Amino acid sequence: MPSSSSPLLKVDRLAKSFGGVRALDGIDFALAPGELVGLIGPNGSGKTTAFNIVTGVLKPSSGRILFEGAEVTGNRPETNAALGMARTFQNIRLFNDLPVIDNVMVGLHRKRGPGFLATVLGLPAARRSEAAIRVRATEVLGILGLKKRAGERVGSLPYGDQRKVEFARALASEPTLLLLDEPTAGMNPYETADLGATIERLHRELGITTLLVEHDMKMVMGICQRLVVINQGRMLAEGTPAEIRADARVVEAYLGHGRKGRHAVG
Ligand SMILES: Nc1ncnc2c1ncn2[C@@H]1O[C@H](COP(=O)(O)OP(=O)(O)O)[C@@H](O)[C@H]1O
Ligand SMILES: [Mg+2]
Repeated sequence: MPSSSSPLLKVDRLAKSFGGVRALDGIDFALAPGELVGLIGPNGSGKTTAFNIVTGVLKPSSGRILFEGAEVTGNRPETNAALGMARTFQNIRLFNDLPVIDNVMVGLHRKRGPGFLATVLGLPAARRSEAAIRVRATEVLGILGLKKRAGERVGSLPYGDQRKVEFARALASEPTLLLLDEPTAGMNPYETADLGATIERLHRELGITTLLVEHDMKMVMGICQRLVVINQGRMLAEGTPAEIRADARVVEAYLGHGRKGRHAVG
């Protein structure tokens, strides 16, 4: 991370126990404004738990979360959403029987000043009537190539497109921090490569600071500027994709889990 800019997000000595299970045990990392960072580690290493604490779904046992320089530890999820955090979930959470557009509009009921979409899309920032929200949701769908699907029941879409609708909903809130939890889970290789390219493009075009949990190593190594690797709730390594690929501890952690054959790491 460039030392010149203060971090947008700082995770400071984060620990979390569930009963006797130490899910997180001293996690430290920071995201500079505009970075696209991958958070990787074998299954059960604590990635989703870290997301849940950052967003306020869970309270940490100890440690702090700083967002835009202010402590947000223990905030409610709605508070953090209003501050500018948006996330997607490891398991799809959409209203299957509602049209695509309605699922995206759910993400637009956050009160905040004009954000990047107002600028990018040239929308008047002042008012957010229902009509304005609909226009904006449609534009976000356009960015993701789903405008034609706006009126369809979301449950009828192919799986990869449903994932994109979740992504659109998160984007629609004009987040300053986007947290994506295994967005390609359940996708085929084509859908995975396509969504990876979309994440990279949106990051490049909109400059949103993004933390990506992803088990597809090719994708995460290909698009992230930096990687944070955790294992069994602890920091294992941090660095560029090239540095991580060459890190003996990382190779060992993954091989140690993979002796029975291929498995999903991430
Ligand atoms: N709500 C919970 N209650 C009890 N244990 C949990 C809970 N959430 C996660 N864990 C445990 O914490 C560890 C980390 O889980 P998780 O954060 O989901 O890992 P990852 O997302 O890296 O696969 C696992 O051992 C998991 O079983
Ligand atoms: Mg997880």
